[in-house]
Amino acid sequence: MNVVHVTSKIPQEGLDLLIRQGYQIRTGPLSKARGAHALLCMLTDTVDEKTMDNIGPQLKVISNMAVGLDNIQIDEAIKRGISFANTPGVLTEAVAEHAVALLLAVARRIAEADVFVRAKKYKGWQADLLLGQELQGKSAGILGYGRIGSRVADILEKGFGMKVLYHDERRNEIADRNKAEYVSFEDLLRRSDVVSLHVPLLPGTRHLIGEKELGLMKKTAYLINTSRGAVVHEKALAQALRNSVIAGAGIDVFEYEPKVDALLLKEKRIVLTPHIASASKEARRAMAELAAKNIIAVLERV
Ligand code: DGY
Repeated sequence: MNVVHVTSKIPQEGLDLLIRQGYQIRTGPLSKARGAHALLCMLTDTVDEKTMDNIGPQLKVISNMAVGLDNIQIDEAIKRGISFANTPGVLTEAVAEHAVALLLAVARRIAEADVFVRAKKYKGWQADLLLGQELQGKSAGILGYGRIGSRVADILEKGFGMKVLYHDERRNEIADRNKAEYVSFEDLLRRSDVVSLHVPLLPGTRHLIGEKELGLMKKTAYLINTSRGAVVHEKALAQALRNSVIAGAGIDVFEYEPKVDALLLKEKRIVLTPHIASASKEARRAMAELAAKNIIAVLERV
């Protein structure tokens, strides 16, 4: 009987698909996955050479319940003939909506305003109380025009009348059709009022946004990151916020999760969320189902 090891509590719909196949489900930390034929893991599980050794040679598939695969040592899985899979598509809407929510929260100072009211500091309407910036007519710079990046572009363009600039490894036909303007990385930073990051974490994207890049951005611009924490140099970002190099940031992901850099915590003009961009009930259910289907596709392959 195939044994599936699931490393976290996931929506029951995903487990039901596996149970219906007659698989034995085991749950528990990654360290207890020995003997499993399939691993259903989370982005918080580091699945490297040592982990694969520990699970054993019967392991056929690593199914990550996430779109990012940076927690899995892919070259090692390939070397061992272990299939691996992620959950793209089903979380696009959730992550895109969260990116826009972070943008609105920072641009209209929602989190600051909430703290202000709760602290009983609201003494009456004032013409200059907690002024933010509107999005209408401004430029949105999308770094990485994939599924999520293009959906964020769509919402910002259709919902807020923003002009979309984008940068990616190559031009994107859909972006061109949508009249998004393809620009260089530097131009995107220089010209955008909002820079939203949608690139995977790869050696080439680690600390892609550091002191120099933040220095190219407009003083009035916002940085939004729902991709991976390590894409941004956090100390450089804290410094940039401190020195008003940029106007603010909305950040859902951190380099050393769950640790959040102490310097970032001190800044006011930043809205922080705990890696919840895909945390809608709809997306999480669909992610669990897709992660289960990915396992079934491999184990039932003839
Ligand atoms: C993923 O699935 O990789 C995202 O980070 C979830 O928010």
